Amino acid sequence: MKKLAITGGGPLDGEVRASGAKNATLPILCAALLSDQPLDISNVPHLEDVTTTNRLLGQLGADITIDEKYGVHVHAQNLTSHEAPYELVKTMRASILVLGPLLARHGAARVALPGGCAIGARPVDIHIAGLRKMGATIDVEAGFIDAKAGRLQGTRIVMETVTVTGTENLMMAATLAQGETVLENAAREPEVVDLADCLRAMGAQIEGDGTTTIRIQGVDALHAAKHRVVPDRIETGTFLVAGVLTQGRVKVRDTRPSLLDAVLGKLETAGAEVSTGDDWIEVNMHGQRPRAVSVHTAPHPAFPTDMQAQFCALNAVADGVGTVTENVFENRFMHVPELQRMGADISLEGNTAIVRGQPRLKSAPVMATDLRASASLVIAALAADGETVVDRIYHIDRGYECIEEKLAQLGAKIRRLNA
Ligand code: UD1
Repeated sequence: MKKLAITGGGPLDGEVRASGAKNATLPILCAALLSDQPLDISNVPHLEDVTTTNRLLGQLGADITIDEKYGVHVHAQNLTSHEAPYELVKTMRASILVLGPLLARHGAARVALPGGCAIGARPVDIHIAGLRKMGATIDVEAGFIDAKAGRLQGTRIVMETVTVTGTENLMMAATLAQGETVLENAAREPEVVDLADCLRAMGAQIEGDGTTTIRIQGVDALHAAKHRVVPDRIETGTFLVAGVLTQGRVKVRDTRPSLLDAVLGKLETAGAEVSTGDDWIEVNMHGQRPRAVSVHTAPHPAFPTDMQAQFCALNAVADGVGTVTENVFENRFMHVPELQRMGADISLEGNTAIVRGQPRLKSAPVMATDLRASASLVIAALAADGETVVDRIYHIDRGYECIEEKLAQLGAKIRRLNA
């Protein structure tokens, strides 16, 4: 099992490049299923979840070429299967994103039910209810979602909860529906907007993405297109927090400051000098210890749930007491017992972690439990005395491209153990 060994040390100091966003790449790859013509996607991060999605698209009959210059070329000329098997869905919940495109283009989809996962129940009832409202017949039994439809019909869908992949699935399905679909209470995440940009390049008629109401006029077919994936705001934020908690200076290039307003505001409150340009962000602590900050997660543009674990790590070494309240998922504090093993003083009260900062953490063997939890352990280790070994890092490889190379570029002492 692969592990990362990190020796805590002085401040990080340097510059890294942000990769393309995982959470934009996955729906965009699935969008290629909507057309019999090719989609060229650039700025695709090299990640396990991208490989899994490519395998899934390949099983459905799409031709996939990985190209140094363009990224990934997907051509779903003929679909030969409409089934997303459990083996793939269980490793990556985002496999559910083939449901809308398959149903809209192929009239049928059979997708294994994602089921529970480490960070909570994460149901897909809103995806299913929306597609039913568009005229699909959907049975959920024996662990599979079995969906069939003639041409989907445009309609008004009020989503009960703000769901990112739910909004994406319904938006993709609606591009080929008959008439207009209106999605209310839609997710406003930048990755939804990036998917809408890609769909528009393919000929879809979409308005209002980035707001809570998205309007889609169905068209008969989508065509070939090229699209460059938006920068990864969560990866960007993770490197910035690493800079702040080590009292250092970190500049992230090829990113977009406007995607991170809530996070940058909190880093300023923590005492960081934050400078930005069109496509870069720099944080500088000038050797000062960060101050504890309190955050509440909520859908975009509020503070992202995918950054709360990293802020628990930041507060663990900050001056003062900070609270981290998780409002999106019901069980997203698996990093807390692991951070406690490193000496962090954290108590949990319901959905709030109360973190009392310590000057330093100490190294300990710790276990990654999910993607963002593992990121928090890696950055906490940068501010711990001695060598911390983080086990089960396949979680981190699902979402962070070349994490050890990038952190090493910033001066971290980090190596991969292939034990
Ligand atoms: C996406 C992101 C993930 C991020 C999350 C919240 C991708 C591939 N993943 O996940 O990194 O942490 O958004 O920003 O983009 N819900 C329902 N019924 C549904 C769907 C969702 O009740 O049908 C609930 C969930 O249980 C959760 C909340 O809605 O409490 C938000 O989940 P959702 O936005 O759907 O998360 P994902 O799209 O799975």
